Amino acid sequence: MSNDIAATRPSPTFVHAKEPDFLALRIDRYYRERVRNTWGGKHILHGISPGTDAIHVSGNDYLSLAQHPKILNTASDTMLHEGNGLLMSGIFLHGANPQLELEREIAHFMHAEAGVLCQSGWCANTGLIQTVANERTPVYADMLAHMSLWEGIRSAGANAVAFHHNDPEHLERQVLRHGPGVIVVDSVYSTNGSVCPLQDVVRIGNAHGCVLVVDESHSLGTHGPRGEGLVAALGLAGQVHFRTASLAKAFAGRAGFIACSERFSSYFKYESNPMIFSSTLLPYEVAGLRATLEVIKNEGWRRQRLHANAAYLRSRLDELGYNLHDSASQIIALEAGPEPQTMVLRDALEARGIFGSVFCAPATPKNRSLIRLSINCSLTQAELDRIVRACRDIREEVDMAGWPSTRRKRSRAEQGTAPRPAFSEP
Ligand SMILES: Cc1ncc(COP(=O)(O)O)c(C=O)c1O
Repeated sequence: MSNDIAATRPSPTFVHAKEPDFLALRIDRYYRERVRNTWGGKHILHGISPGTDAIHVSGNDYLSLAQHPKILNTASDTMLHEGNGLLMSGIFLHGANPQLELEREIAHFMHAEAGVLCQSGWCANTGLIQTVANERTPVYADMLAHMSLWEGIRSAGANAVAFHHNDPEHLERQVLRHGPGVIVVDSVYSTNGSVCPLQDVVRIGNAHGCVLVVDESHSLGTHGPRGEGLVAALGLAGQVHFRTASLAKAFAGRAGFIACSERFSSYFKYESNPMIFSSTLLPYEVAGLRATLEVIKNEGWRRQRLHANAAYLRSRLDELGYNLHDSASQIIALEAGPEPQTMVLRDALEARGIFGSVFCAPATPKNRSLIRLSINCSLTQAELDRIVRACRDIREEVDMAGWPSTRRKRSRAEQGTAPRPAFSEP
Protein backbone atom coordinates (compact mmCIF):
# COMPACT_ATOMS: atom_id res chain seq x y z
CA MET A 1 0.00 0.00 0.00
CA SER A 2 1.31 3.44 -0.90
CA ASN A 3 1.77 6.04 1.81
CA ASP A 4 1.15 8.98 -0.52
CA ILE A 5 -0.80 11.69 1.22
CA ALA A 6 -3.96 12.53 -0.69
CA ALA A 7 -5.70 14.48 2.05
CA THR A 8 -5.92 17.62 -0.06
CA ARG A 9 -8.34 15.93 -2.48
CA PRO A 10 -11.97 16.87 -1.73
CA SER A 11 -14.19 13.96 -0.69
CA PRO A 12 -16.94 13.15 -3.21
CA THR A 13 -19.21 11.74 -0.48
CA PHE A 14 -19.28 14.27 2.31
CA VAL A 15 -19.86 17.99 2.30
CA HIS A 16 -17.67 19.85 4.78
CA ALA A 17 -18.18 23.26 6.27
CA LYS A 18 -15.98 25.70 4.36
CA GLU A 19 -12.75 26.55 6.20
CA PRO A 20 -12.27 30.27 6.74
CA ASP A 21 -9.03 31.58 5.21
CA PHE A 22 -7.07 31.73 8.46
CA LEU A 23 -7.56 27.99 8.95
CA ALA A 24 -7.26 26.99 5.29
CA LEU A 25 -3.92 28.81 5.02
CA ARG A 26 -2.59 27.08 8.09
CA ILE A 27 -3.54 23.60 6.86
CA ASP A 28 -2.27 24.38 3.33
CA ARG A 29 1.04 25.32 4.81
CA TYR A 30 1.39 21.89 6.47
CA TYR A 31 0.69 20.08 3.18
CA ARG A 32 2.93 22.39 1.19
CA GLU A 33 5.93 22.81 3.49
CA ARG A 34 6.04 19.53 5.32
CA VAL A 35 4.32 16.92 3.19
CA ARG A 36 5.25 18.09 -0.31
CA ASN A 37 8.47 20.03 0.05
CA THR A 38 10.14 18.08 2.86
CA TRP A 39 8.67 14.57 2.65
CA GLY A 40 8.18 14.42 -1.13
CA GLY A 41 4.43 13.73 -0.80
CA LYS A 42 4.84 10.70 1.52
CA HIS A 43 4.27 10.56 5.25
CA ILE A 44 7.48 10.58 7.26
CA LEU A 45 6.00 8.38 9.98
CA HIS A 46 4.56 5.71 7.73
CA GLY A 47 6.75 3.46 5.64
CA ILE A 48 5.94 -0.03 4.40
CA SER A 49 3.65 -2.41 6.27
CA PRO A 50 5.56 -4.89 8.40
CA GLY A 51 5.68 -8.52 7.29
CA THR A 52 5.21 -11.49 9.58
CA ASP A 53 8.92 -11.74 10.35
CA ALA A 54 9.27 -8.05 11.20
CA ILE A 55 11.11 -7.03 14.36
CA HIS A 56 9.15 -4.35 16.19
CA VAL A 57 11.25 -1.95 18.19
CA SER A 58 8.78 0.90 18.04
CA GLY A 59 6.59 0.39 21.12
CA ASN A 60 7.20 1.13 24.79
CA ASP A 61 6.16 -2.27 26.13
CA TYR A 62 9.65 -2.71 27.55
CA LEU A 63 8.77 -5.66 29.77
CA SER A 64 6.56 -7.36 27.14
CA LEU A 65 3.47 -7.28 29.33
CA ALA A 66 0.87 -6.23 26.74
CA GLN A 67 -0.05 -9.89 26.14
CA HIS A 68 0.56 -11.23 29.66
CA PRO A 69 -2.23 -13.80 30.27
CA LYS A 70 -2.62 -13.07 33.99
CA ILE A 71 -3.07 -9.35 33.32
CA LEU A 72 -5.43 -9.84 30.38
CA ASN A 73 -7.55 -12.36 32.30
CA THR A 74 -7.87 -10.06 35.28
CA ALA A 75 -8.87 -7.12 33.08
CA SER A 76 -11.36 -9.10 31.01
CA ASP A 77 -12.99 -10.75 34.08
CA THR A 78 -13.44 -7.32 35.61
CA MET A 79 -14.89 -5.93 32.40
CA LEU A 80 -17.42 -8.77 32.22
CA HIS A 81 -18.44 -8.41 35.86
CA GLU A 82 -18.39 -4.66 36.31
CA GLY A 83 -18.76 -3.23 32.83
CA ASN A 84 -17.45 0.28 32.49
CA GLY A 85 -18.35 1.48 35.98
CA LEU A 86 -19.97 4.80 36.72
CA LEU A 87 -18.19 6.92 34.10
CA MET A 88 -17.43 10.01 36.07
CA SER A 89 -14.66 12.30 37.20
CA GLY A 90 -12.27 10.71 39.72
CA ILE A 91 -12.94 13.48 42.23
CA PHE A 92 -16.13 11.68 43.25
CA LEU A 93 -14.32 8.48 44.31
CA HIS A 94 -14.14 7.88 48.06
CA GLY A 95 -14.33 5.17 50.71
CA ALA A 96 -13.18 1.61 49.96
CA ASN A 97 -12.52 1.81 46.25
CA PRO A 98 -10.15 -0.31 44.12
CA GLN A 99 -8.75 2.77 42.35
CA LEU A 100 -7.89 4.51 45.61
CA GLU A 101 -6.34 1.28 46.91
CA LEU A 102 -4.25 0.97 43.76
CA GLU A 103 -3.07 4.56 44.20
CA ARG A 104 -1.73 3.64 47.64
CA GLU A 105 -0.14 0.42 46.34
CA ILE A 106 1.72 2.09 43.48
CA ALA A 107 2.79 4.95 45.77
CA HIS A 108 4.22 2.57 48.38
CA PHE A 109 5.91 0.55 45.62
CA MET A 110 7.64 3.81 44.59
CA HIS A 111 8.55 4.56 48.25
CA ALA A 112 6.08 7.46 48.35
CA GLU A 113 3.44 8.30 50.90
CA ALA A 114 0.59 8.77 48.43
CA GLY A 115 -0.23 8.98 44.77
CA VAL A 116 -2.85 9.89 42.21
CA LEU A 117 -3.92 7.86 39.19
CA CYS A 118 -4.52 10.10 36.19
CA GLN A 119 -6.00 9.36 32.77
CA SER A 120 -2.59 9.53 31.09
CA GLY A 121 0.97 10.67 31.58
CA TRP A 122 0.02 13.79 29.65
CA CYS A 123 -2.74 14.63 32.16
CA ALA A 124 -0.42 13.88 35.09
CA ASN A 125 2.25 16.30 33.86
CA THR A 126 0.03 19.10 32.62
CA GLY A 127 -2.19 18.91 35.71
CA LEU A 128 0.76 18.79 38.08
CA ILE A 129 2.61 21.80 36.72
CA GLN A 130 -0.63 23.74 36.58
CA THR A 131 -1.14 23.13 40.32
CA VAL A 132 2.41 23.88 41.50
CA ALA A 133 3.40 26.87 39.34
CA ASN A 134 1.85 30.17 38.33
CA GLU A 135 2.89 33.43 36.59
CA ARG A 136 5.35 34.21 39.39
CA THR A 137 7.11 30.83 39.32
CA PRO A 138 10.20 30.12 37.25
CA VAL A 139 10.06 26.55 35.96
CA TYR A 140 13.47 25.15 35.03
CA ALA A 141 13.08 22.51 32.35
CA ASP A 142 15.75 20.37 30.72
CA MET A 143 15.66 21.17 27.00
CA LEU A 144 14.70 17.55 26.27
CA ALA A 145 12.00 17.34 28.95
CA HIS A 146 8.82 15.75 27.62
CA MET A 147 6.36 17.98 25.77
CA SER A 148 3.66 17.36 28.39
CA LEU A 149 5.85 19.12 30.97
CA TRP A 150 6.32 22.10 28.63
CA GLU A 151 2.59 22.14 28.02
CA GLY A 152 2.03 22.19 31.79
CA ILE A 153 4.33 25.21 32.08
CA ARG A 154 2.43 26.94 29.29
CA SER A 155 -0.99 26.25 30.78
CA ALA A 156 0.20 27.39 34.22
CA GLY A 157 1.26 30.70 32.64
CA ALA A 158 4.62 30.14 34.39
CA ASN A 159 8.00 31.49 33.34
CA ALA A 160 9.75 28.70 31.40
CA VAL A 161 13.52 28.69 31.86
CA ALA A 162 15.27 26.06 29.76
CA PHE A 163 18.62 24.58 30.73
CA HIS A 164 21.02 22.58 28.55
CA HIS A 165 20.30 18.89 28.37
CA ASN A 166 21.73 16.99 31.36
CA ASP A 167 23.84 19.99 32.36
CA PRO A 168 23.55 20.55 36.14
CA GLU A 169 26.00 23.47 36.05
CA HIS A 170 23.83 25.34 33.58
CA LEU A 171 20.78 24.52 35.70
CA GLU A 172 22.45 25.99 38.78
CA ARG A 173 23.42 29.16 36.93
CA GLN A 174 19.83 29.59 35.78
CA VAL A 175 18.48 29.05 39.31
CA LEU A 176 20.92 31.58 40.75
CA ARG A 177 19.76 34.07 38.13
CA HIS A 178 15.98 33.60 38.38
CA GLY A 179 15.48 32.39 41.97
CA PRO A 180 13.72 29.42 43.59
CA GLY A 181 11.16 27.66 41.42
CA VAL A 182 10.25 24.26 40.03
CA ILE A 183 12.81 21.98 38.36
CA VAL A 184 11.44 19.48 35.84
CA VAL A 185 13.44 16.63 34.33
CA ASP A 186 12.84 13.18 32.86
CA SER A 187 14.73 10.34 34.59
CA VAL A 188 15.30 8.69 31.19
CA TYR A 189 14.82 10.90 28.13
CA SER A 190 12.33 9.57 25.64
CA THR A 191 14.03 10.78 22.47
CA ASN A 192 17.60 9.59 23.04
CA GLY A 193 17.60 7.31 26.09
CA SER A 194 20.05 9.44 28.08
CA VAL A 195 19.72 9.23 31.85
CA CYS A 196 19.35 12.32 34.04
CA PRO A 197 22.16 13.05 36.53
CA LEU A 198 19.55 12.91 39.29
CA GLN A 199 21.87 13.20 42.29
CA ASP A 200 23.25 16.51 41.00
CA VAL A 201 19.84 17.87 40.03
CA VAL A 202 18.41 16.97 43.44
CA ARG A 203 21.38 18.51 45.25
CA ILE A 204 20.94 21.77 43.33
CA GLY A 205 17.19 21.80 43.82
CA ASN A 206 17.45 21.25 47.56
CA ALA A 207 20.28 23.75 48.01
CA HIS A 208 18.26 26.52 46.35
CA GLY A 209 14.79 25.82 47.74
CA CYS A 210 13.24 24.44 44.54
CA VAL A 211 10.42 21.98 44.00
CA LEU A 212 11.59 18.89 42.11
CA VAL A 213 9.52 17.05 39.50
CA VAL A 214 10.93 13.91 37.88
CA ASP A 215 9.08 12.22 35.03
CA GLU A 216 9.76 8.50 35.45
CA SER A 217 7.77 7.31 32.43
CA HIS A 218 10.76 5.45 31.01
CA SER A 219 12.18 4.15 34.29
CA LEU A 220 9.14 3.05 36.29
CA GLY A 221 8.95 -0.73 36.07
CA THR A 222 12.29 -0.97 34.28
CA HIS A 223 14.72 0.50 36.82
CA GLY A 224 15.32 -0.40 40.44
CA PRO A 225 15.47 -3.87 42.00
CA ARG A 226 11.67 -4.29 41.83
CA GLY A 227 10.96 -1.70 39.17
CA GLU A 228 10.29 1.13 41.62
CA GLY A 229 12.00 3.66 39.34
CA LEU A 230 15.32 5.50 39.34
CA VAL A 231 14.56 8.04 42.05
CA ALA A 232 13.73 5.34 44.59
CA ALA A 233 16.58 3.12 43.39
CA LEU A 234 19.03 5.96 44.03
CA GLY A 235 17.62 6.55 47.51
CA LEU A 236 16.25 9.97 46.53
CA ALA A 237 12.53 9.34 47.12
CA GLY A 238 12.54 11.52 50.25
CA GLN A 239 14.11 14.46 48.42
CA VAL A 240 12.01 14.66 45.24
CA HIS A 241 8.63 16.29 45.70
CA PHE A 242 6.85 14.75 42.73
CA ARG A 243 7.42 11.79 40.44
CA THR A 244 5.15 11.37 37.45
CA ALA A 245 4.83 8.49 35.01
CA SER A 246 2.93 7.35 32.00
CA LEU A 247 1.61 3.84 32.68
CA ALA A 248 1.53 3.29 28.91
CA LYS A 249 5.18 2.20 28.85
CA ALA A 250 6.46 -0.65 31.07
CA PHE A 251 3.00 -0.91 32.69
CA ALA A 252 1.52 -1.50 29.22
CA GLY A 253 -1.80 0.17 30.12
CA ARG A 254 -3.48 3.53 29.59
CA ALA A 255 -3.02 5.78 32.61
CA GLY A 256 -0.66 8.17 34.37
CA PHE A 257 0.55 8.47 37.94
CA ILE A 258 1.87 11.10 40.33
CA ALA A 259 3.76 10.01 43.44
CA CYS A 260 3.48 12.71 46.11
CA SER A 261 2.55 13.42 49.73
CA GLU A 262 -0.87 12.58 51.18
CA ARG A 263 -1.52 16.27 51.72
CA PHE A 264 -0.76 17.09 48.08
CA SER A 265 -2.82 14.24 46.61
CA SER A 266 -6.03 15.57 48.09
CA TYR A 267 -5.24 19.16 47.07
CA PHE A 268 -4.35 18.00 43.55
CA LYS A 269 -7.60 16.12 42.99
CA TYR A 270 -9.67 19.21 43.64
CA GLU A 271 -7.43 21.81 42.02
CA SER A 272 -6.14 20.25 38.81
CA ASN A 273 -8.19 20.78 35.66
CA PRO A 274 -7.57 17.34 34.06
CA MET A 275 -8.65 15.65 37.31
CA ILE A 276 -11.82 17.68 37.69
CA PHE A 277 -12.96 18.07 34.10
CA SER A 278 -12.18 14.69 32.58
CA SER A 279 -13.55 11.24 33.40
CA THR A 280 -11.43 8.80 35.30
CA LEU A 281 -10.16 5.28 34.53
CA LEU A 282 -12.49 2.35 33.93
CA PRO A 283 -12.68 -0.54 36.46
CA TYR A 284 -11.03 -3.06 34.12
CA GLU A 285 -8.11 -0.70 33.57
CA VAL A 286 -7.63 -0.37 37.31
CA ALA A 287 -7.82 -4.16 37.79
CA GLY A 288 -5.39 -4.74 34.90
CA LEU A 289 -2.91 -2.25 36.33
CA ARG A 290 -3.11 -3.90 39.75
CA ALA A 291 -2.26 -7.27 38.21
CA THR A 292 0.55 -5.59 36.25
CA LEU A 293 2.05 -4.15 39.40
CA GLU A 294 2.36 -7.65 40.88
CA VAL A 295 4.01 -8.98 37.72
CA ILE A 296 6.43 -6.06 37.63
CA LYS A 297 7.43 -6.59 41.26
CA ASN A 298 7.81 -10.34 40.97
CA GLU A 299 9.22 -11.01 37.50
CA GLY A 300 12.61 -9.38 37.89
CA TRP A 301 14.02 -11.51 35.06
CA ARG A 302 12.22 -9.21 32.63
CA ARG A 303 14.25 -6.21 33.83
CA GLN A 304 17.48 -8.19 33.68
CA ARG A 305 16.80 -9.33 30.13
CA LEU A 306 15.77 -5.84 29.08
CA HIS A 307 18.97 -4.26 30.35
CA ALA A 308 21.14 -7.04 28.93
CA ASN A 309 19.47 -6.69 25.52
CA ALA A 310 19.83 -2.91 25.54
CA ALA A 311 23.47 -2.99 26.67
CA TYR A 312 24.34 -5.49 23.93
CA LEU A 313 22.72 -3.44 21.19
CA ARG A 314 24.18 -0.15 22.41
CA SER A 315 27.70 -1.50 22.42
CA ARG A 316 27.41 -3.13 18.99
CA LEU A 317 25.88 -0.03 17.36
CA ASP A 318 28.49 2.20 18.99
CA GLU A 319 31.23 -0.03 17.50
CA LEU A 320 29.58 0.37 14.09
CA GLY A 321 30.10 4.14 14.37
CA TYR A 322 26.59 5.31 15.28
CA ASN A 323 26.39 8.26 17.65
CA LEU A 324 23.99 7.01 20.32
CA HIS A 325 23.89 10.32 22.20
CA ASP A 326 24.89 8.94 25.56
CA SER A 327 22.00 6.51 25.66
CA ALA A 328 22.32 4.47 28.84
CA SER A 329 18.94 2.80 28.69
CA GLN A 330 16.52 0.74 26.62
CA ILE A 331 15.96 3.70 24.25
CA ILE A 332 18.45 3.96 21.40
CA ALA A 333 18.32 6.75 18.82
CA LEU A 334 19.84 6.72 15.33
CA GLU A 335 19.93 10.43 14.49
CA ALA A 336 20.06 10.94 10.74
CA GLY A 337 19.31 14.67 11.17
CA PRO A 338 17.33 16.27 8.30
CA GLU A 339 13.92 14.67 7.76
CA PRO A 340 14.53 13.37 4.21
CA GLN A 341 17.60 11.52 5.51
CA THR A 342 15.58 9.98 8.29
CA MET A 343 13.11 8.72 5.68
CA VAL A 344 15.99 7.07 3.82
CA LEU A 345 17.08 5.45 7.09
CA ARG A 346 13.54 4.33 7.86
CA ASP A 347 13.20 2.70 4.42
CA ALA A 348 16.57 0.97 4.66
CA LEU A 349 15.73 -0.50 8.07
CA GLU A 350 12.20 -1.49 7.10
CA ALA A 351 13.43 -3.20 3.92
CA ARG A 352 15.40 -5.43 6.31
CA GLY A 353 12.36 -6.00 8.55
CA ILE A 354 13.37 -3.62 11.36
CA PHE A 355 10.56 -1.28 12.44
CA GLY A 356 11.53 1.52 14.82
CA SER A 357 9.70 4.81 15.27
CA VAL A 358 10.42 8.05 13.48
CA PHE A 359 10.84 11.09 15.73
CA CYS A 360 10.81 14.49 14.05
CA ALA A 361 9.66 18.03 14.87
CA PRO A 362 7.92 18.85 17.17
CA ALA A 363 9.25 15.83 19.11
CA THR A 364 12.85 16.75 18.18
CA PRO A 365 14.45 20.00 17.06
CA LYS A 366 14.14 20.55 13.30
CA ASN A 367 17.01 18.83 11.46
CA ARG A 368 17.64 16.47 14.37
CA SER A 369 15.09 13.85 13.41
CA LEU A 370 15.83 10.24 14.24
CA ILE A 371 14.67 6.67 14.33
CA ARG A 372 14.11 5.46 17.88
CA LEU A 373 14.70 1.82 18.68
CA SER A 374 12.88 0.81 21.87
CA ILE A 375 14.30 -2.40 23.21
CA ASN A 376 12.19 -4.95 25.07
CA CYS A 377 12.93 -8.00 27.16
CA SER A 378 11.55 -10.50 24.63
CA LEU A 379 14.00 -9.79 21.84
CA THR A 380 16.04 -12.91 21.18
CA GLN A 381 19.78 -12.96 20.53
CA ALA A 382 19.01 -13.82 16.88
CA GLU A 383 16.74 -10.77 16.59
CA LEU A 384 19.30 -8.49 18.22
CA ASP A 385 21.92 -9.77 15.79
CA ARG A 386 19.56 -9.15 12.88
CA ILE A 387 19.22 -5.52 14.00
CA VAL A 388 23.01 -5.23 14.27
CA ARG A 389 23.51 -6.76 10.81
CA ALA A 390 20.92 -4.42 9.29
CA CYS A 391 22.57 -1.39 10.90
CA ARG A 392 25.97 -2.58 9.67
CA ASP A 393 24.79 -3.19 6.10
CA ILE A 394 22.90 0.09 5.60
CA ARG A 395 25.67 2.46 6.64
CA GLU A 396 26.66 3.49 3.11
CA GLU A 397 23.13 3.47 1.71
CA VAL A 398 21.97 5.91 4.41
CA ASP A 399 25.23 7.91 4.40
CA MET A 400 25.79 7.41 8.10
CA ALA A 401 29.27 8.93 7.83
CA GLY A 402 27.76 12.19 6.59
CA TRP A 403 25.12 12.59 9.31
CA PRO A 404 25.65 15.63 11.55
CA SER A 405 25.45 13.32 14.60
CA THR A 406 28.24 11.09 13.24
CA ARG A 407 30.41 14.13 12.60
CA ARG A 408 29.85 15.25 16.20
CA LYS A 409 30.90 11.81 17.43
CA ARG A 410 34.05 11.94 15.30
CA SER A 411 35.04 15.40 16.46
CA ARG A 412 34.42 14.43 20.06
CA ALA A 413 36.72 11.44 19.57
CA GLU A 414 39.36 13.61 17.86
CA GLN A 415 39.31 16.14 20.69
CA GLY A 416 39.48 13.30 23.18
CA THR A 417 36.43 14.57 25.04
CA ALA A 418 34.60 11.74 26.69
CA PRO A 419 30.86 11.71 26.46
CA ARG A 420 29.07 12.89 29.59
CA PRO A 421 29.29 9.96 32.01
CA ALA A 422 26.60 7.39 31.41
CA PHE A 423 24.72 6.54 34.56
CA SER A 424 24.88 2.87 35.28
CA GLU A 425 21.69 0.90 35.33
CA PRO A 426 20.75 -0.29 38.76
C1 LIG B 1 8.49 11.06 29.24
C2 LIG B 1 7.03 11.01 28.92
N1 LIG B 1 6.16 11.66 29.73
C3 LIG B 1 4.83 11.66 29.48
C4 LIG B 1 4.31 10.98 28.38
C5 LIG B 1 2.83 11.03 28.11
O1 LIG B 1 2.28 9.80 28.51
P1 LIG B 1 0.88 9.26 27.96
O2 LIG B 1 1.15 8.63 26.64
O3 LIG B 1 0.46 8.28 29.01
O4 LIG B 1 -0.04 10.44 27.90
C6 LIG B 1 5.17 10.27 27.55
C7 LIG B 1 4.65 9.54 26.37
O5 LIG B 1 4.83 9.90 25.25
C8 LIG B 1 6.56 10.29 27.82
O6 LIG B 1 7.44 9.67 27.01
